[in-house]
Amino acid sequence: MKVGIVGGGQLGRMLGLAGIPLGIECEFLDSSATAPAAAVGKIHVGQLDDEAAILSLAQRVSTLTTEIENISTAAFSGAARYCSVAPRPEAVAAAQDRLIEKTLFRQLGIETAPFVALSKPGDLDQVSVNADWPKIIKTRRLGYDGRGQAVVRSHSELAHAYKNLGAVPSIIEDWIGFDRELSLIGVRDRAGAIRFYPLCENVHINGILSTTVAPYDDSRLQLQAETSVARIMNHFDYVGVLTVEFFHTAGGLVANEMAPRVHNSGHWTIEGAETSQFENHLRAVTGLPLGSTKVRGCAAMLNLVSHMPDRPRVLQHEGVHLHDYGKSARPDRKLGHCTLVDDDRKTLISRLEALQSLIVKPNS
Ligand SMILES: Nc1ncnc2c1ncn2[C@@H]1O[C@H](COP(=O)(O)OP(=O)(O)O)[C@@H](O)[C@H]1O
Ligand SMILES: [Mg+2]
Repeated sequence: MKVGIVGGGQLGRMLGLAGIPLGIECEFLDSSATAPAAAVGKIHVGQLDDEAAILSLAQRVSTLTTEIENISTAAFSGAARYCSVAPRPEAVAAAQDRLIEKTLFRQLGIETAPFVALSKPGDLDQVSVNADWPKIIKTRRLGYDGRGQAVVRSHSELAHAYKNLGAVPSIIEDWIGFDRELSLIGVRDRAGAIRFYPLCENVHINGILSTTVAPYDDSRLQLQAETSVARIMNHFDYVGVLTVEFFHTAGGLVANEMAPRVHNSGHWTIEGAETSQFENHLRAVTGLPLGSTKVRGCAAMLNLVSHMPDRPRVLQHEGVHLHDYGKSARPDRKLGHCTLVDDDRKTLISRLEALQSLIVKPNS
C-alpha cells in the first residue's frame, strides 16, 4: 500500500513514520530533496502548485493526501483519475481562503468573529470609523503561523496595514477577547464514521503555537466543538483528519480556522493517545478501520521554535519525548517538539514548566 503525500515537512515526516509499522509506504512531493520527510520516504522534487508534479505522484501511489493546504487543488482533484484522493479537494480549497472558510462556517451555523471582506482598496470604506478597535486584518490566502496578518488599533491605521500586507484580498475581523484557545481534531472514515480526540488547549506566542495541553475537560464545550467539526466533515463528505481552532469566550466557542490535515496541536497524540492523529489519518485515507482516540492520562506538547535546544539537556528531563524534525534553524521556524505524558494534570503542568525553563534559558 503506497500513499502519496503532497508536502514533505514535519507533518509529512510524522505521517511517514506512522505508516512504517502499518506497512504503509509514503512518497512525498516537496520543493526540497532534503525536506524533513526525506528521512522516511522518497521525495519527488517539485512545487506544490505544479499540476504535473502532483499528477505524476498520483500515478505512483494508491492513495493521495496532503500535509499542507497551499497546493494546487485543481491537480489534487484531477489526481482522482489515477488513485483515491483524500480529503476532498473542495475542503482543501475552502481552507486556503479565509473568506470562503469563514463564510462556510457561518452557513453551517458555526459562530465566527464578525468580519468584513476587503477585496479591493475601496472596501476599506466599509469599515466604520467608530467600530470597536482593535481589529485584526488577515490576507485571505497563504497566511500561517501568524504571518499575513496584523493587529489594527484604529481606523487611521487600516490603510497602512492593508498596504503593508501587500494590498491583497483580505478580511478584517473583530478582535476576540478569549479566555483560551482550544482546538478539536476529528477523523472521518470513508463510511462516514467519525472519532474525536479531546479538546486541546493551545497557547500561541506571536501567532505561533507554543504549547498544547490535552485533554481540556469540559463536556459541554467538547460537544459544541464536536457538533461543529462534524458539520464541516459531513458537508464535504470528508475523509481523513480535520482540525478546527476555536476561541473560548464567555459566550462559548468561536471558530477561527480549519486545517484539512493533521495539526500541530495534535502532536501529543503520538505518545498521549492510543492511536496518533498521523496513524488515524493514514487509516482513514487508505480505507482501514479507525483506531481508538482514547487518551493516556494527559499530555503536554512544547514546540521547539527558532533554535534547537541542546539534546542531552532536554533528554535529562525524565520521561520527555523529543522530536527533532531535522530542519536548519531559522527565526520563527518550527524545528521540533517535546511531549510529556502524565496521569496527573497538575504534575504534568509543573513538569511542562520545568521543561520550558530548561529550554528558554539554555545557558543557565
Ligand atoms: N480575531 C482574533 N482575535 C484575537 N486573537 C486572534 C484573532 N485572530 C487570530 N488571533 C491570534 O493569532 C493566532 C493566529 O491566527 P490564525 O487566524 O489562527 O492564523 P494562522 O493561520 O497564522 O494560524 C491565533 O491563534 C490567535 O492567537
Ligand atoms: Mg491558526
